Amino acid sequence: MKTTSFLVACVLVSCFLGACHGGDLRKNFYRKSCPQAETIVKTKIQEHVITRPELPAKLLRMHFHDCFVRGCDGSILLDTTPTNTAEKDAFPNLSLSGFDVIDDIKSAVEAKCSGVVSCADILALAARDAVSVRFNNVPMWEVLTGRRDGRVSTDTDALNNLPAPFFNFTDLKQSFESKKLTVHDLVVLSGAHTIGVGHCSSFSNRLFNFTGKGDQDPSLNPTYANFLKTKCQGLSDTTTTVEMDPNGSGKFDSDYYSILVQNKGLFQSDAALLTTKISRNIVIELLNQNKFFTEFAQSMKRMGAIEVLTGSAGEIRRKCSAIN
Ligand code: HEM
Ligand SMILES: *[C@@H]1O[C@H](CO)[C@@H](O)[C@H](O)[C@H]1NC(C)=O
Ligand SMILES: *[C@@H]1O[C@H](CO)[C@@H](O)[C@H](O)[C@H]1NC(C)=O
Ligand SMILES: *[C@@H]1O[C@H](CO)[C@@H](O)[C@H](O)[C@H]1NC(C)=O
Ligand SMILES: *[C@@H]1O[C@H](CO)[C@@H](O)[C@H](O)[C@H]1NC(C)=O
Repeated sequence: MKTTSFLVACVLVSCFLGACHGGDLRKNFYRKSCPQAETIVKTKIQEHVITRPELPAKLLRMHFHDCFVRGCDGSILLDTTPTNTAEKDAFPNLSLSGFDVIDDIKSAVEAKCSGVVSCADILALAARDAVSVRFNNVPMWEVLTGRRDGRVSTDTDALNNLPAPFFNFTDLKQSFESKKLTVHDLVVLSGAHTIGVGHCSSFSNRLFNFTGKGDQDPSLNPTYANFLKTKCQGLSDTTTTVEMDPNGSGKFDSDYYSILVQNKGLFQSDAALLTTKISRNIVIELLNQNKFFTEFAQSMKRMGAIEVLTGSAGEIRRKCSAIN
């Protein structure tokens, strides 16, 4: 009895301190140590997005790749060294960019408070702020902070932990469950594919050689398939990109789900969400945009807390592209 009430008290106190959702992460971790940190990230992002409208998609995907490989520890930001091939140079890095923006923000933050703010936190905040620009900079989800930076980044970890666009539902579920995320999180977070682009090589098997007989994926909308064939030059086309949301890839909205129910999900991993009753029902629920925004905010908070390093684990990198 005594132990139980003690535990309840602890939970209440830590919730009061803002730490009950993300483990050891908390709201405005740098309030005292670097009060300007979050404003610097936001201001810098606003400046960069003006000239680079693709940044919200780039940074959102970068944050996802960071979190799924060794947790949200900034390991995606590390460069390859003579003795180690880093995550960012693994095959699934295809089209990642925006590393220079993170470096620019880090320099500005370091100039104010040196050695205090982690690269992992900067990336988590930057992804949120970039998506929020088109919502008058009203934060689209809460980002708890206090992550520390990892010292390890390998291409094999990226290959083994990132879900592939060819995954079926079973593979996707397993991938997300291995990060303690649910099927609900899987369907909600896949809605990020409402912004950005995909390379033909990520889906052209569905157009030209689905089962090895020169055939098309029967689960792909035939009209949309014909449209995609006017874009992609064939199975060997590795350079062309198409918008993932044919109704406008610049807007962060719930179109992903209305596109999906028309069998116009671009990747097999998108189409896979329609293949079980439970995930299909979530897709239908998320056609409602307000519902999608609310759920996305919650799932992003969970994704942003995957295997984070806190306390005295890891380090605060001086430069995001190299360990100290
Ligand atoms: C469910 C498993 C997922 C798979 C299999 C997957 C796969 C992919 C692939 C193959 C691309 C295109 C890469 C290219 O061809 O250039 C892509 C793009 C993208 N993904 Fe995912 N993804 C998944 C989940 C997520 C999640 C959870 C997020 C973020 C919350 C996300 C955000 C994005 C964004 C924003 C883009 C566009 C990037 C750009 O415009 O350059 N994805 N994804
Ligand atoms: C992605 O990896 C390839 C090697 O597989 C490398 O040549 C390329 O520069 C990397 N791209 C980025 C954006 O890091
Ligand atoms: C999903 O794909 C895996 C291979 O990645 C395969 O072993 C499994 O049988 C597939 N599951 C279903 C239900 O198709
Ligand atoms: C289609 O796939 C089959 C089986 O993998 C392969 O033998 C064939 O060469 C492929 N066709 C093309 C055009 O690549
Ligand atoms: C496409 O966008 C328009 C305007 O934003 C919207 O009314 C329509 O419902 C969207 N269609 C789909 C399939 O999402």
